[in-house]
Amino acid sequence: MPFPVDETDRLLTTTRAVRRRLDLDRPVPAEVLLECIDVAEQAPTGGNQSSRRWLVIRDPETKAALADLYRSAGGDWITNTYAKVKGTGHHNENAMRSADYLARNLEHVPVIVLATIYGIHDGSGRPGLFDSVIQAAWSLCLALRSRGLGSAWTTLHLNKADDVANLLDIPADVSQVVLLPVAWTIGEDFSPAVRQPAEEITWFERWGRTLQHPTDEAPAHEDGAGVTVEVDVNAPPEDIWPYVSDIDLPAQFSDEFQGAEWISPEPGIGATFLGRNHNERMGNWEVTCHITAYEENRTFAWNSADLEDPAAQWRFDLVPLAGATRLRFTMVLGPGPSGLTAAIAAMPDKEAKIIANRQKGQTANMRRCVEGIKALAESTTGEKGNGDLA
Ligand SMILES: Cc1cc2nc3c(=O)[nH]c(=O)nc-3n(C[C@H](O)[C@H](O)[C@H](O)COP(=O)(O)O)c2cc1C
Repeated sequence: MPFPVDETDRLLTTTRAVRRRLDLDRPVPAEVLLECIDVAEQAPTGGNQSSRRWLVIRDPETKAALADLYRSAGGDWITNTYAKVKGTGHHNENAMRSADYLARNLEHVPVIVLATIYGIHDGSGRPGLFDSVIQAAWSLCLALRSRGLGSAWTTLHLNKADDVANLLDIPADVSQVVLLPVAWTIGEDFSPAVRQPAEEITWFERWGRTLQHPTDEAPAHEDGAGVTVEVDVNAPPEDIWPYVSDIDLPAQFSDEFQGAEWISPEPGIGATFLGRNHNERMGNWEVTCHITAYEENRTFAWNSADLEDPAAQWRFDLVPLAGATRLRFTMVLGPGPSGLTAAIAAMPDKEAKIIANRQKGQTANMRRCVEGIKALAESTTGEKGNGDLA
């Protein structure tokens, strides 16, 4: 191993947005900053040109003026929003608490580093100089963390970029990219954050095609090949949930699913319903579905055919975003026998193709379903707004 992977992974997974644990009293030597910037400058750069410029701000008056701009550019909004969500258990409460602290204390942080680059983004989508700064700024965060310093990636100031440029004499042909408050951290123990697992957000070969059990071969039925479709809905989760939890509703949108009725009276984990399906290859069939997750406004999941050894695993998730909700609909084949089992037994050499065809067909049905739910939810969300914090 060229590096101790445990240690490099610890660095990569525990470099957090540090705000409330920034040590406001301990000075940060310029020498350490320059050392870290030298490390950061090793990051890839478009055209192999040296166009990044790092602005280190330590003067108390300048920091105070910058902090005022940060607050008027959005920091005050964070403080007001935190006051509203404080104590409510809102999914963003902890992040808001931390961001509010930074907004109120930015001038007290020993150093503020502004990462900039020569050039103005022309919006062309071409990778260019401007896109050369982010990876370097993140390297700076990593280099700081490995020396016991912390930072937080912030961009609110960009809402007042012209005022910031005036304050700091930044030329008009320079883009500001990220503002990093830098300090020694209080304690060195930071934990990995909860993030979505790789197998849920990594597609293989085609958009949306997942693999539950990684394999280096073409996926077999038992490898858990799946499909995920996602759509952002301009409505809060509670306005989408009635459609997501209506087991009959997808029949409006699917060319295979014909409808469903509850077998057990109450929806909830362990409850069952009967789904009716039809397609050209298999004709009509019915399948019992077993609910495996049922969290109102959040998750609705079921296994089809057999609870423990399902023909397929299905799941809706409602993920709150700022101002919207991401509706995810996922399906994983198997591991139990499914409608594909007979076809695979008859043509074992075509297994991968049979699976890929099924993924393609399911993607189309599931896409129509989430688009249909989106249209319904957005038409009924009415005056309640879009679930934004503001
Ligand atoms: C593009 C971008 C802009 C951000 N802007 C701000 C900001 O202006 N203020 C702030 O307090 N945090 C900002 N953040 C930090 C995120 O909110 C932070 O990553 C989040 O709180 C999660 O913390 P973690 O990275 O430690 O998991 C920004 C992050 C990114 C990637």
